[in-house]
Amino acid sequence: MLEARGLTKYYSAIAAVRDVSFTLRPGTVLGLLGPNGSGKSTTVSMLTGLLEPSGGRVLFDGRDIRDFPLEFKARVGYVPEEAHLYTYLTGPEYLSLVGGLRGLEPARLARKIQEFLEIFGLADARHEQLSAYSKGMRQKVLIAAALLHDPDLIVMDEPCSGLDVLSTLVLRSLVQALAARGKMIVYSSHVLEMVEQASTEVLILHESRVVAHDSVSRLREVLQLSSLEQVFRKVVAASDVDGVANGLVKVMEQ
Ligand SMILES: Nc1ncnc2c1ncn2[C@@H]1O[C@H](COP(=O)(O)OP(=O)(O)OP(=O)(O)O)[C@@H](O)[C@H]1O
Ligand SMILES: [Mg+2]
Repeated sequence: MLEARGLTKYYSAIAAVRDVSFTLRPGTVLGLLGPNGSGKSTTVSMLTGLLEPSGGRVLFDGRDIRDFPLEFKARVGYVPEEAHLYTYLTGPEYLSLVGGLRGLEPARLARKIQEFLEIFGLADARHEQLSAYSKGMRQKVLIAAALLHDPDLIVMDEPCSGLDVLSTLVLRSLVQALAARGKMIVYSSHVLEMVEQASTEVLILHESRVVAHDSVSRLREVLQLSSLEQVFRKVVAASDVDGVANGLVKVMEQ
């Protein structure tokens, strides 16, 4: 079980995340939604133990993750928002490095890497350096790297970023399959369709605070709206998107 209790992060005097709390049980998927700058990546980084909160705690199976950092990290797979990949390595070399650090036995690791690359359609690019991979190809390497050691908690920051339509559908199905195996999944996304279909619950952040947290169907019901898009627009008081777009065109034409 994963529990966030009053998670808060300040950068100097600026609040990036204020008082985020939730509980996630095995087999459940939490989708994090929110406008740019609302605190999703900051929240996700604190959940992985990579970013120290200014206040609040993260508990994993009832224990503060700061009390057993190595064991906790062994049980977490993390797909970061921005890839800091070693661009001079090939995909298999990068995965070998990550799997080695995770302590996977070499023959098992090699087999896993080969199969991940095949499933993700990256086998043909196995001799290429990551610098020559497209954004979507690099994203697939990051997803594979997060899953190599069969973690119990999978935390992904915008995992659909750069993925094509089919790969996004695969990811959605993967999230559901992982949950069915009792994994806990937290991910942020701007793809409402993905969040609507692949999450057991949704947490919406706005200006660093939680403005909604419930199942998609409950949020729709409570707010009497038919789609997550309408829920999102309502709780983040979204501005007139057509007006903003027209304003941009006007400036461009000045
Ligand atoms: N390292 C940092 N130093 C200072 N401020 C930061 C830092 N990281 C994030 N912030 C601030 O914290 C707030 C939340 O940022 P965060 O990256 O968590 O947003 P986000 O919801 O992930 O946005 P996006 O959708 O653009 O990825 C923003 O106001 C941002 O400027
Ligand atoms: Mg972010």
